[in-house]
Amino acid sequence: MSFEYVLAIETSCDDTSVAIVRKDGYVEACLAANQDLVHKPFGGVVPEIASRNHTLQILPLIEQIFAQTKFSFDKIDALAVTSRPGLIGSLLVGVVTAKTMALVKEKPFVGVNHLEAHLLAPFLFDNEFTKPKGLDFPYLALAISGGHTQLYIVRGFGEYEVLGRTVDDAAGEAFDKFAKRMGFGFPGGVQVDQKAKLGDRSRFALPRTMIHDEGYNFSFSGLKSAAIRLIDTLSSEELEKESAHLCASFQEAVVDSLMAKLDRAAKDLKLERIVLTGGVSANSRLREVCTEWAKKNSFNIFIPPLRYCTDNAAMVGFAGLQRLISGERADQNLSASASSLDTDFKEASR
Ligand code: KG4
Ligand code: ZN
Repeated sequence: MSFEYVLAIETSCDDTSVAIVRKDGYVEACLAANQDLVHKPFGGVVPEIASRNHTLQILPLIEQIFAQTKFSFDKIDALAVTSRPGLIGSLLVGVVTAKTMALVKEKPFVGVNHLEAHLLAPFLFDNEFTKPKGLDFPYLALAISGGHTQLYIVRGFGEYEVLGRTVDDAAGEAFDKFAKRMGFGFPGGVQVDQKAKLGDRSRFALPRTMIHDEGYNFSFSGLKSAAIRLIDTLSSEELEKESAHLCASFQEAVVDSLMAKLDRAAKDLKLERIVLTGGVSANSRLREVCTEWAKKNSFNIFIPPLRYCTDNAAMVGFAGLQRLISGERADQNLSASASSLDTDFKEASR
């Protein structure tokens, strides 16, 4: 059976997204309904509210993508859905939708690991963003989002080795918690990024935890706590005055912590192709530092456009297509799982 087009569904956290993707990575369309405004008053994602919103949004989005692309189910060869890891109630909405459509339309389908999808996002292209040149295996990939901070060697489709991970908070989670204490909305990473542009990065000395430790793990909770303690010592007038400097100093500490391990891993493993992916790779300072670093070391860096860095179904479609092409199929017993399966990733041997 040949697989040309897949309909993909992503509902692992708070973004409902659907996409139609071609097997070479071309994205026919990718739609997403963001729930930020719904969760904002709570300062974080409320799982029950997220899954309820997925149930409201998923079918209208699928109708919309078919209407917009003029595709019908006849042109779709299979379905791909994020089945792990994530919020279980949210994942279930996508999984049940995909299973039902696969059954009714008699199409094959696969369950995809959300993190694998992030790792393959640099292969995506569309009518605005051209196919990246020189992207090939193996590459080093830093996946940084609200829920994850992991460093991988990607050796091929389905061949992923974990080099390091955060031992506590994810980088995006640290951004969001810091932002919340600063009085910004949720999620706050983007506001910190904006504000930091006006600040002095060396104004406050904040910790870069674990950067000299052996291995490639990360830690952000010490930085987050130090920054929050510092904010607690300031009056509201001082906080207002120092706000941009605090953001710039905090952001620089996150960027330094990420870059220290990325630099060491690229050099130790002699990997010259580097991928940044996940919501935090939208950070303008990280992009700037990483691009300069790559230039200086003659590394080839790939950062997907923002729409494919944050949670989206297009990356799920591309990852799912590779699995379908290799012969994998899910059946009606497919269940959602809050964590990755043991077989999804290997620990890298040192
Ligand atoms: O990948 P993503 O959309 O969802 C998850 O899987 O978590 O990532 C969202 C995270 C949030 O923590 C958000 O604050 C962070 O990415 N983020 C940023 C920026 N844009 C989004 N963090 C720092 N700077 C940004 N410009
Ligand atoms: Zn994600």
